[in-house]
Amino acid sequence: MLSGKRILLGVTGGIAAYKAAFLLREFQKAGAEVRVAMTPSATRFVGAETFSSLSRHPVAVDIFPDSSDSGDSWTRHIQWGEWADLFVIAPCTANTLAKIVHGLADNMLTSTVLAARCPILICPTMDGEMYQAPATRKNLEQAHNLGYHVLEPEEGYLASGLEGKGRLPEPQQILQYSTELISSVYTGGVLAGKTVLVTAGPTREHIDPVRFISNPSTGKMGFAMAEAARQLGAEVILIHGPVQLSPPAGMETIEIETAQQLFEAVKTYADADIVIMSAAVADFSPSEYHEQKVKKEQAESEIKLTSTPDILSWLGHKKRDGQVLIGFAMETENLLENASRKLNEKNIDWIVANSLTEPGAGFAVDTNAVLLLGNSRQEQLSGSKKELAREILDLIFNSK
Ligand code: C5P
Repeated sequence: MLSGKRILLGVTGGIAAYKAAFLLREFQKAGAEVRVAMTPSATRFVGAETFSSLSRHPVAVDIFPDSSDSGDSWTRHIQWGEWADLFVIAPCTANTLAKIVHGLADNMLTSTVLAARCPILICPTMDGEMYQAPATRKNLEQAHNLGYHVLEPEEGYLASGLEGKGRLPEPQQILQYSTELISSVYTGGVLAGKTVLVTAGPTREHIDPVRFISNPSTGKMGFAMAEAARQLGAEVILIHGPVQLSPPAGMETIEIETAQQLFEAVKTYADADIVIMSAAVADFSPSEYHEQKVKKEQAESEIKLTSTPDILSWLGHKKRDGQVLIGFAMETENLLENASRKLNEKNIDWIVANSLTEPGAGFAVDTNAVLLLGNSRQEQLSGSKKELAREILDLIFNSK
């Protein structure tokens, strides 16, 4: 997919700048032509000559080229912005991220971001505390809102000697992400032009302001489904309950807390071409909500419950022609039987059934083992949640 593609690699001033040299090689091995723009502080970590030798092209640092950049002019950021099919900024420091989301153009790299006509992938890389700092969180959110693609950093050992989230993902992973990005943008993808509504994570049904009924869903599977749909070119709306995950890049995200709020949000997008209900919706909610925290001494030993609306069933019974509805089911017994009953009763097209008793499947873990059940098809699948999400969509939409 990268063969013949032109990638502009932006390198900023973090210790992970050295990894950008390996990334450049990966891009080249995949057939891409690469040019490099560095911030002035990046050159303190790795010499520009390293990148110019590897890319066989002068490296741009300042807006005003020096005499060695023959043939280039001070409008080089415009030319490079037009030239690139993809702009990957790896590593991207907190400082450059902040500049990008505020539209600053004080060096070649940030100016080219403004001039670029291609998708831009930001790989934020920094110390864990800097990554968690409120300003960085806000800037990342803004980056998502502005349509930049963001590849989250990894957890692990950091140059500061501390452990945390902020490591640049390995070059192979950035390569893979870039390839997917390019394929969804430039080939259209099998879901191009489609609107996909995905729900993810748990709901919380409050008893009083501090107590609620919920489940251990982390939203991982639903977020993976949303990302996979986006990679296939869909316009994705992700509605999710309380989770610890950062919102995936390139989609609208809506946060809800209760099943009723989820229902209201789903209604707004109920005519989406495809709906993927991966949320672990609480089936019951307390009949009575106490405005104040219930005192231990006053607590009753029984809580009366009311059923929450079955959102998927509501969608299934008003399904329009051509709409595809995909549900999830979490079972502890009789997987196939229960899943096929739900498929029929809810009037949906596909159900992804998890058995909670299967090792490596279910809540919180990164892997899953599922039974994908359609009206005339049945597939047993397993793997990481990200792989599975892609496989499920590939099977349903014949995108392979
Ligand atoms: O019937 P059961 O709750 O097992 O079905 C699970 C599927 O139904 C999931 O796709 C879930 O998102 C959806 N669901 C729903 N509304 C509920 C409960 C579950 O849409 N109240």
